[in-house]
Amino acid sequence: MNRAIAKTVRKFEVLASKLPTLSRLYMYPYKNVVKREIELANLEPGARVLQIGAGSVPYTALYLASLGGFYVTALDIDPGAVKCAADWVERMGFSDRIRILCTSGNDYSLEKVAAAFLALQVEPKEEVMDYLMARGEEGLKVIVREPSVRYASQYDPIPEKWRPVSRIYQGMSTFTYSNLYIKS
Ligand SMILES: C[S@@+](CC[C@H](N)C(=O)[O-])C[C@H]1O[C@@H](n2cnc3c(N)ncnc32)[C@H](O)[C@@H]1O
Repeated sequence: MNRAIAKTVRKFEVLASKLPTLSRLYMYPYKNVVKREIELANLEPGARVLQIGAGSVPYTALYLASLGGFYVTALDIDPGAVKCAADWVERMGFSDRIRILCTSGNDYSLEKVAAAFLALQVEPKEEVMDYLMARGEEGLKVIVREPSVRYASQYDPIPEKWRPVSRIYQGMSTFTYSNLYIKS
């Protein structure tokens, strides 16, 4: 599959992670996106959450920590992105709230995790969601960005077998909604 957007974003984030002003400009449009996802998840401040697909500029993790007051573990399969992300988090002054971990797949702990927030580029979504729904504690909330029709070919689709309990309109060009799934 030719994921041109994901490849471009990955390269851009490596550059932006080294330039604080650029990274701030880049992340700003996502502030309200993450704010809406925090409303959708409806968690207590201080909750422990995962963010899957940190990238080199883990802005979703940063907004989860700063706007939601959560303790965030942000995961990525790309060791290069993990290194850039850890440096960026430190530079932004959030290393006490966000830790960055490299994962080789579905090998992370879900103990005491209240919610998992997935980046749009995460794949394979089916495996990641199956793992969260099978291994997560009862009540685990999983928030997944749903690709827009226009850019559907650029992202792994959300498997239809998982039905959201709720969703919130985002209206971004690449994703239309953020969906909420709850482990019962
Ligand atoms: C370019 S980033 C965009 C995320 C953005 N920085 C944020 O804060 O929301 C997307 C990242 O997802 C990672 N990724 C894709 N599939 C993944 C998976 N199954 N588990 C962990 N990371 C994944 C990629 O390696 C890539 O670095």
